[in-house]
Amino acid sequence: MFKRRQFMKKAIIVYESVYGNTKKIAEAICEGINKAEGVKCVVKKTGEIHTDDLCDYDAILFGCPNHNQGPALNLLRFIDRAAIVHLKAKIGAAFDTYTGGNKDVAVAKLETTILERLPGISLEGRLSAKVTSRKGPLAADEESKAIEFGKEFGQKILL
Ligand SMILES: Cc1cc2nc3c(=O)[nH]c(=O)nc-3n(C[C@H](O)[C@H](O)[C@H](O)COP(=O)(O)O)c2cc1C
Repeated sequence: MFKRRQFMKKAIIVYESVYGNTKKIAEAICEGINKAEGVKCVVKKTGEIHTDDLCDYDAILFGCPNHNQGPALNLLRFIDRAAIVHLKAKIGAAFDTYTGGNKDVAVAKLETTILERLPGISLEGRLSAKVTSRKGPLAADEESKAIEFGKEFGQKILL
């Protein structure tokens, strides 16, 4: 048992959310990742974890709502602070939630920030989930797509 735990891969999803929709996507991705045998994933809001703690993880995912055509500021600030941490994570992914026609708009900018600030992480996936109005709810199927995304990402952590 001890040996098995030693070789468990660890993943973390750090997210920001005002109305709870991005939190639901983060939890769905986590559910998918945890289906990979040998991977343990946790979900934390930006205020619930210190950037120093990121060095424990093999994979890091970041997600937030689209706010004014870009990633939510709290997450950008978190990534900025994480830039001084010595990360062991080799892979990561980014996701956003959006309304209307803004699919991929914030997540593309989030990826640019991650690559600039955390250059040791290679991004291995992107998800953009639609909410039906500013407060939600999520559009149909977005949570199940997020679970599938998590399942695929979980396999990449094991490679
Ligand atoms: C201040 C603010 C600005 C927003 N600007 C945009 C925007 O430019 N484009 C967009 O698609 N959605 C925009 N939205 C909608 C958010 O993307 C939506 O509220 C979010 O996806 C819901 O996620 P949450 O429940 O995790 O907060 C905005 C929301 C807020 C509160």
